[in-house]
Amino acid sequence: MNDNHSIINKGLRGVTVASTKISDVDGQAGKLIYRGYLVQDLAERTSFEEIAHLLLFEKLPDEKELENFTARLKEARDIPREIIEALKTRPADSLPMDILQASIPMIANHDPDIGNYSLEACQDRAVSLIAKFPGIIAAWERIRSGKNIVPPNVELGHAANFLYMLKGETPDDDAEHFFNVGLVLHAEHSFNASTFAAREVASTRAHMYAAVTAGVGSLSGELHGGANVRVMEMLKRIGSVDKVEDYINRELDAGRVIFGLGHAVYKTDDPRALILAPMAEIMCKKIGESHWYDISKRLEEKTKAAFKQRKRMDIFLNVDFFSASLYYAMGIPTDLFTPVFAISRIAGWTAHVLEEQFAGAAAKPALYRPESDYIGDYCGPEECSFTPMDER
Ligand SMILES: CC(C)(COP(=O)(O)OP(=O)(O)OC[C@H]1O[C@@H](n2cnc3c(N)ncnc32)[C@H](O)[C@@H]1OP(=O)(O)O)[C@@H](O)C(=O)NCCC(=O)NCCS
Repeated sequence: MNDNHSIINKGLRGVTVASTKISDVDGQAGKLIYRGYLVQDLAERTSFEEIAHLLLFEKLPDEKELENFTARLKEARDIPREIIEALKTRPADSLPMDILQASIPMIANHDPDIGNYSLEACQDRAVSLIAKFPGIIAAWERIRSGKNIVPPNVELGHAANFLYMLKGETPDDDAEHFFNVGLVLHAEHSFNASTFAAREVASTRAHMYAAVTAGVGSLSGELHGGANVRVMEMLKRIGSVDKVEDYINRELDAGRVIFGLGHAVYKTDDPRALILAPMAEIMCKKIGESHWYDISKRLEEKTKAAFKQRKRMDIFLNVDFFSASLYYAMGIPTDLFTPVFAISRIAGWTAHVLEEQFAGAAAKPALYRPESDYIGDYCGPEECSFTPMDER
């Protein structure tokens, strides 16, 4: 116990727990770097497949490498029939993140090589998980709405194929492009909560499926990946631009958060939000529902002003602020926004698990074991004397 009994609640802010070559976030400058590349340079010029290759294999693929990697991903897309049958037994109102999380150990059960811990076997597992996440989410959406499952289409890339399996029709060019950009932007973000959860489990030498299962659980929380769902619910609750200010005042007065703003690391607008904003505008306009974008813009402006006035501090956009209206305008059900985040972040998680388990001295894989400060004062400074059951 520390002497002055002060409560420690910093949540590891400012603590460096490992070295990594995968990505970096410069919160002051608003820079996000994937293996040396600024995300702004990658967002609109690469496919998610290229980014997954970059994260897993430390290089942007050349044409031949991309062709091979894409073929590998396509081959691994099929979800074992037994897993689909198991999903059909789940209550239709199950939370989609729970469905995703529950599916991962089932994928492990179908890994014939599960006892093989070689780098190649673990890379295969990463490819398999990246390939299968979209199919699990799409299958769950079809099952819960009583529709036939749409098998993957080998003609389509990762982004288009997910939308195709979800809705049963090939997306138009805008939807495919914007969804791909969304996948690229959400793929990796250094030691955020879910990545740290995955790495922490990987540090025990548990297998990749166990690590990724932890990552999905962590992402589901509303302060992390779950925030994109809350942003859309918030926009719907507000309903129109003229109600924005009342909403902000009510929420802040009640001590509640405005979702999609604020970040543990960024001290300027999240660069990903700035890329997603114009896409959200285009898509909302395209479906004749520009008000979602308009409400978002007013909410951004008024929340920033309210923070200046109330807390004498600046608050900034995070990635979830505009992904919400973008995905909504693409016809993705709101409760699938966080699973969609996971479809992308699985690339980052698996890259981190590989780094944690195989990077050797560079990343110094070590079992994470932080200290805690014991503040239990049940019997004063001494230990309690044991009371037998009949004397309690
Ligand atoms: C992400 C988040 C948990 C980071 O919190 P943090 O590390 O404590 O951020 P800061 O240190 O900058 O917060 C400073 C203050 O602003 C408050 N704050 C931060 N974001 C806020 C928000 N979106 N709405 C209301 N208040 C917020 C904090 O509670 C804190 O208040 P306090 O000083 O009275 O304790 C927080 O910004 C948040 O809850 N955001 C909304 C949820 C969200 O969008 N999550 C997705 C993140 S990518």
